[in-house]
Amino acid sequence: MWGLCDKKLGHQVKKRKKYESDAQKFFKEERNVCRSVPLCDNILIMSDIIDKESVDDLILSAREAAESAYCPYSKYPVGAAFLGVDGEIYTGCNVENAAYGLSICAERTAIFNAVGCGCRQFVAMAMAGGQKQAATPCGACRQVLVEFCLPAMPVYFANLTDGEVTETTVGTLLPLAFGKQYLK
Ligand code: THU
Repeated sequence: MWGLCDKKLGHQVKKRKKYESDAQKFFKEERNVCRSVPLCDNILIMSDIIDKESVDDLILSAREAAESAYCPYSKYPVGAAFLGVDGEIYTGCNVENAAYGLSICAERTAIFNAVGCGCRQFVAMAMAGGQKQAATPCGACRQVLVEFCLPAMPVYFANLTDGEVTETTVGTLLPLAFGKQYLK
């Protein structure tokens, strides 16, 4: 167990500098792009800064997070993992409640966990749910993603076992999103 943690930590520390510089550079460029082209249609750029090994790590983290899901009502466990620009992976699972409306999705649990730890900028997100077909984020979670993630940020969906992984972006999930720019 410790071996795994140490290995993961070493891997994260090694990658942290690269993420920080690549992502900060990207955030700077993307902000400029956003100012001139509000819809940010150059959505492919950002997936260049995350390598396959990191995507696999993120999916694994989302699948592991799903194991902690508290879902006695739906019996539909979901896990989510965000890779922060600090190189850390922040995870969360769905947590349901007997008063059903108080339940919260895995993606929101994960991103609120990250923000609570001081990280507000992200490189990618993975979610894992569903035995066969991979779960995709609900509308509420898409809106929360838009608050903290750039339209170009890659999002990966996987099922809980070993199915195919689908890649999309935040901007594709919620086009024409209402965001903080409207409140200026
Ligand atoms: N769920 C998530 O965790 N994320 C989503 O984006 C979709 C749905 C959870 C909420 C609930 O606990 C269960 O899946 C069934 O809807």
